[in-house]
Amino acid sequence: MCGIVGYVGKSPVVPILINGLKRLEYRGYDSAGLALITENGLWKEKAVGRVFNLEQKVSQSPEATIGIAHTRWATHGGVTEENAHPHMDNDLRIAVVHNGIIENMNQIKKKLQEEGAVFRSETDTEVIPHLISKYYKKDPQEAVRRAVRDLRGTYGIVVAFADHPNKLIAARNGSPLVIGLGKDETVIASDPQAIVEHTRNVIYMNDREIAIIDAKNIVVNSLDGISVDSSVETIDNDYTVAELESNEHFMEKEIFEQVESIKRCIRGRLQTEEGNSKLGGLNLSSRDLSKINSVINIACGTSYHAGMVGAMAIEALARVPARAEVASEYRYRHPIIPADSVFFAVSQSGETADTLGAVQEVQLKGGRVFGIINVVGSTIARTCEGGIYVHSGPEVAVASTKAFTSQVTAFLLFALNLARTKDMSFEDGQEFAQSLFDVPSLVTQYLEDTGPIDEAVKLITEYSKYTLFLGRGFSYPVALEGALKLKEIAYVPCEAYAAGEMKHGPIAMLEEGTPVIFIIPNDSHREKSISNLKEVQARGAKIIAVHTAGDEEVAELAHLSIPVPQTHEIISPLLTSIPLQLISYKAGLALGRDIDKPRNLAKSVTVE
Ligand code: BG6
Repeated sequence: MCGIVGYVGKSPVVPILINGLKRLEYRGYDSAGLALITENGLWKEKAVGRVFNLEQKVSQSPEATIGIAHTRWATHGGVTEENAHPHMDNDLRIAVVHNGIIENMNQIKKKLQEEGAVFRSETDTEVIPHLISKYYKKDPQEAVRRAVRDLRGTYGIVVAFADHPNKLIAARNGSPLVIGLGKDETVIASDPQAIVEHTRNVIYMNDREIAIIDAKNIVVNSLDGISVDSSVETIDNDYTVAELESNEHFMEKEIFEQVESIKRCIRGRLQTEEGNSKLGGLNLSSRDLSKINSVINIACGTSYHAGMVGAMAIEALARVPARAEVASEYRYRHPIIPADSVFFAVSQSGETADTLGAVQEVQLKGGRVFGIINVVGSTIARTCEGGIYVHSGPEVAVASTKAFTSQVTAFLLFALNLARTKDMSFEDGQEFAQSLFDVPSLVTQYLEDTGPIDEAVKLITEYSKYTLFLGRGFSYPVALEGALKLKEIAYVPCEAYAAGEMKHGPIAMLEEGTPVIFIIPNDSHREKSISNLKEVQARGAKIIAVHTAGDEEVAELAHLSIPVPQTHEIISPLLTSIPLQLISYKAGLALGRDIDKPRNLAKSVTVE
């Protein structure tokens, strides 16, 4: 997934493009580039690495008030200057920036080469400027329209023509594009983050649309050439650039923001007196809720792990069958949509293509999909029929932390609400609601004394060959999330297993000194977990136990004991996941990793 910005107006364009790219850098940051329409034609520059490197190279750029730019997350072709965007035709009269994947690039490329086109890069994107050049007579929109009709796959593109120094052409199919209507200026970008400093009046382009934009006018047509009456919406979401403040990294800042982010997620929703919750955004009456007979959560990455905890909580509290599905698998599995079921699309960014694709597949088959989303106004949020915004606030670090605990909190609110329409009693509802209400103060308590995290990091990084995460019940998805974080941030080889399953295979990985992180709160699985803990200890493993404070037996058994405050079994992931976030953060620091922008990752991936 990549970030695209385009601008046409009166202001010097380079600083606007560079600032826009910096705001979109979470979408991909392996290389960047821009093209300007100047009085001498198209001028372009590219650089490998972060936008900062490009900024250095364009300090002497020519004057211009119109241009396009791109920050890349490589899909086709290595991370090189040649593969960075924009890509141009052979006459250097057409420049294109693209977000998406062209699936039929090989056929098109072969034909274009037979017709004389010379390719400079390994990218799929480069077929687009050559195609446009092939169709270009004098009408830029017509050339782009004919070119994109030959494409199969996903795209959000913005095109600059040397012959048309006052306009840009954009087209969308599958990848987000938003147009910002400013005063005598127009900004187009992959998402509003790069637009709000200019204007809050935007048009969200839809699939199979093409737009001609200049400083004053925007014309949107369908790819069949029919005029589209696009509605202008006002962004009310707060896109203020999150500042690091006194923190060294956004990941650290966001881990310590979880007290407030969980509070924001329950505020105005949790009803401790009534032992229930109220989730207005779902538009589901108690009667609707009582008819629900199964829940399926679709998501990717960390959001998938939140979906797993959510499904377990719905089953445990409401006794309604529930499961989590990996979106990229579920969408192509010809899914069966059970009657009386509801789906939750779980996504921090609300832009992840795999999850969006699964949502559209379920809706196509008549399923009802609700969102558990952080970014307000995102594509998945606007595609769902309702949902729960988790109010984590902007999450900048690529590895998700506070969004995970907010997503889990949203699920616990829903599970309580659903359970109260089923068999849960008023008293049990009150008890659970009170336990959930107490979480922010318990998280504060833990963050005031986080335990021997540095020692745990030393154990993991010194051994460094392999680390195993184990947990049972609600601690199993926490183990999965812990392992994902250690991979994402520190690139440490590790995996997570259900503790009971460990002896059926991965136990073979253990030897003297292997670090095993065991999530073992004081819950219904404690006894069995202790047996598993002793099984791995017998193979010489060094146990790092995340356990309930005051559990001396586990503390003594463990090589390192990391206590967290006592809470309800179903709520325990909100506490046990935080030490694992800290371990991965500190391990990444110890190994000198780029914490907020790990290699090969992006904050959310809008390509399949
Ligand atoms: C990955 C991110 O690209 O997408 C993960 O690096 C994230 O942090 C995953 O969990 C899913 O993203 P989202 O926005 O749909 O929750």
